[in-house]
Amino acid sequence: GTRQQALFIIFGGTGDLAKRKLYPSLFELYKKGFLKENFAVIGTARRPWTDEYFQDVVRKAVTDADTSKEDADEFAQHFYYQSHNVNDTEHYVTLRKLAQRLDQKYSIGGNRLFYLAMSPRFFGTIAEHLKSQNIVTDNGYNRLIIEKPFGHDLASAKDLNNSIGRYFAEDSVFRIDHYLGKEMIQNIAAVRFGNNLFRSLWNNRYIDNIQITLSEALGVEERAGYYETAGALRDMVQNHILQIVSLLTMNMPASFTESDIRREKIYALKALQVYSPEQVEKNFVRAQYGESSAGLKGYRQEEQIADDSKTETFVAGKVFVNSENFSGVPIYIRTGKRLSKKTTRIDIVFKDVPKNIFGSERLGKNILTIIVEPKGEIYLQMNVKKIGQNFGLKVQKLDLLQVEDNSVQIPEAYEKLILDVLRGDATNFTHWEEVAYSWKFVDAIRNAWDNQQIPLPEYASGSMGPQEADDLLARDDHHWIFTS
Ligand code: BG6
Repeated sequence: GTRQQALFIIFGGTGDLAKRKLYPSLFELYKKGFLKENFAVIGTARRPWTDEYFQDVVRKAVTDADTSKEDADEFAQHFYYQSHNVNDTEHYVTLRKLAQRLDQKYSIGGNRLFYLAMSPRFFGTIAEHLKSQNIVTDNGYNRLIIEKPFGHDLASAKDLNNSIGRYFAEDSVFRIDHYLGKEMIQNIAAVRFGNNLFRSLWNNRYIDNIQITLSEALGVEERAGYYETAGALRDMVQNHILQIVSLLTMNMPASFTESDIRREKIYALKALQVYSPEQVEKNFVRAQYGESSAGLKGYRQEEQIADDSKTETFVAGKVFVNSENFSGVPIYIRTGKRLSKKTTRIDIVFKDVPKNIFGSERLGKNILTIIVEPKGEIYLQMNVKKIGQNFGLKVQKLDLLQVEDNSVQIPEAYEKLILDVLRGDATNFTHWEEVAYSWKFVDAIRNAWDNQQIPLPEYASGSMGPQEADDLLARDDHHWIFTS
């Protein structure tokens, strides 16, 4: 690959995300040669770590079965630590000096990536100081990478965006949605626009309904503080699910480029039907996990969760994109914690043939299934003849693609996304307008939940959610294709 030159400054460098995702991803880029001599990383956070201690943390974070000790050591030498209080101007002065020194030492040429892997309430002050203390350069690029949550509603997202936008132009802001870095999510465009078979059928004349499931087996784990303020709607629907909805329903872009794709995604999200409170009650279900017979704790019994918490850990809903090609197609979505298994999948259910000429033989549905997790797969369900003297039918799955081939290493989402930022390609990042339309849709649901007496049923841990989520589809004569 092409060598990149960059200085990374990671705010939140001691955090979980940095250790679990960022350092291993940078290491992969290093091993593959995208990063070599001309890069350095400054980790900053409040803790008073030394460079040596930081490098040790980085080494541990990247060490696995097939890492050589030499590689890890060599890589870790590019890491520097600076204890930092984001509100203290003096600290940015020290940071500037360190950045300048490393820029020279590694011949980086002024390219800087500011990665904000910390609470959004500090984004504004960090952006301001980066500018006022001249940590942004004028001889290279300056890109800001930010993690979710991007606000907790439209109003706060706007404030946040303004506080960043004063110092960084939209085209240098990279809002991470790690689902957009997943191989199979990127496959949606390939399947839709690379195959006339699907391109021509991808509309409300042929698609009956779409189902998107992002289910997790884990519970809230150690993130009670954040999750209590978010809930499944803000945590998964506002970003990941609506991004998937836009990729599934956007019109074919004029070319496969950032600006053309973005235009179509924005248009799709703009066409989301924003619900009235009555419509929310009819079209959306929320729920919370309770204890399981297998001994799993209920959400309210989890550590640091209030006994009477009203936070939803499950959401199911029916969504409409009122565009020419998709109006009238129900898009059923659901996500939740403590469900029966971890799976991310999309089922596209096609309409029946206009007339069944096979008499009493029943026809199954054509269903195109894209499985993102636990491993990438694409299936197409078809009707075929049963072997034998008589004419009978059966439903069979055409296995289009099995990504899990042991000889192929699937790049981790973060690895792909970081490389995209290095290359200045924002295709797989969320544009501000996408964020805004997503919040507008989500706010209507959240407000109805907060203001009306809308029930919050419990579902058993390890199940696929509450009965209400099945009823939602049954009312339309549909059912979830994925059941457990
Ligand atoms: C994150 C959510 O954005 O996505 C988490 O905050 C969730 O609550 C995670 O667990 C799921 O991501 P993945 O890649 O494991 O499907």
